Amino acid sequence: MSSVSNLPVLRGLPKGPQIWRKIKAPMEYSHFAQNLQPSAIRAVSKAIHGKKVISFAGGMPHSATFPQAELTALAAEILESRGAEALQYGQTQGYHPLLETIAKYLDGRGVAGVKPENLLIAAGSQQAIDLVARILIDPGDLVLMESPGYPGASGAFLNLGARLEGIPVLADGPDLEALERIVKRERPKFFYVTPNFANPAGVLMSVEKRRHLVEMAERYRFWIVEDDAYGEIMFEGSTADVVPVKAHDHSGCVIYMQTFSKTIAPGLRVAAIAAPVKTTELLETVKQTADMFTSSLTQILVNEFIVRGHFAARLPGLRQVYKSRRDAMEKALREHFPGTRWVTPKGGFFFWLEMPEDTDTQALLAPALESGVAFMPGNCFFVGHFDAAEAARTVRLAYSRESEADIAKGLSELGRLANRLVGAVHG
Ligand SMILES: Cc1ncc(COP(=O)(O)O)c(C=O)c1O
Repeated sequence: MSSVSNLPVLRGLPKGPQIWRKIKAPMEYSHFAQNLQPSAIRAVSKAIHGKKVISFAGGMPHSATFPQAELTALAAEILESRGAEALQYGQTQGYHPLLETIAKYLDGRGVAGVKPENLLIAAGSQQAIDLVARILIDPGDLVLMESPGYPGASGAFLNLGARLEGIPVLADGPDLEALERIVKRERPKFFYVTPNFANPAGVLMSVEKRRHLVEMAERYRFWIVEDDAYGEIMFEGSTADVVPVKAHDHSGCVIYMQTFSKTIAPGLRVAAIAAPVKTTELLETVKQTADMFTSSLTQILVNEFIVRGHFAARLPGLRQVYKSRRDAMEKALREHFPGTRWVTPKGGFFFWLEMPEDTDTQALLAPALESGVAFMPGNCFFVGHFDAAEAARTVRLAYSRESEADIAKGLSELGRLANRLVGAVHG
């Protein structure tokens, strides 16, 4: 039986009643808290909060795309006609009509057979990642993810004591040969993957690779945790290109998550997880002690927004907004970043840059912030074993938040600073 004196923090101290006078336990934090991984993106975002900065740092939607008029009218209507329900405690799994709407929506995206009992609504996909991590990870478990990969995921996994190993990212998605070499050697608990316009690498995973990945997960018995934040933000190609990995899953090895943060508004905090029933039941239990339920009001809002056709209607315009920003960024990169390489993103929010050898993009951050431009140095996106010098010359730039004019202005300034830095190294 576990007892207070078995807690690691008390081990080695004298047993007995005097223990409470000698130890300073009430003043200490948990091992969990002492090992928490702060987010580098949040740190940059905090540093520039309230300042006049052209920011390519966070993956923020352009705020003018928020459907304020529709949401205002819907919210007023919901509060008037169903206020008691919208303001009341809700079910942990989610608002049932929204579960049904999302099941139908996923069917339209090529993921057939999802029923409401396979779904759970989370307060954003960041919470989805955290909840999934809590039901899958035991301390010391091996977890695989793309490297570079999403720090919100690596942070959540490390917080729970996972051992992380990174899978390199190629132009058509993660290097599955590298993945296979690892899974042949050791059984990971899961592979976290962002197949549609990955954050930060911006690449699209090929359909063949999606199929192959599911085959591997079934053969070597590991979960796939699929995070599809950007699948709807596609600029070219066909919708078949962005059909989730989950669509190829016939054995229940894929836990899929999708957020409305990039397509409606992140302030609503609504995302969904699709998984086998047993998995959603566990997620429901762990969410009970996290936050009980996701806001009833915003769930009803999102449901009405989709059911009344606003969601489908806005996607073409949204894609156009971000495509035009992507194009503006690529034009400015060609102009101001000689010797830098990238794969043109076919969707999503990000360019991933490899700057000339020996560039230290972290050293670029302070002067850039001073000049009013923010970006993310690439090294904070790498996990596991990686080449520090290679990582040091990478950069993530989000084109989602700023206007075309500010993209041109900000990149002209950043390019000037970067070229001065490269010149100083090689000069
Ligand atoms: C890949 C990925 N997953 C999850 C999130 C978190 O999104 P949400 O607002 O739904 O929590 C982001 C946000 O940038 C993201 O890029």
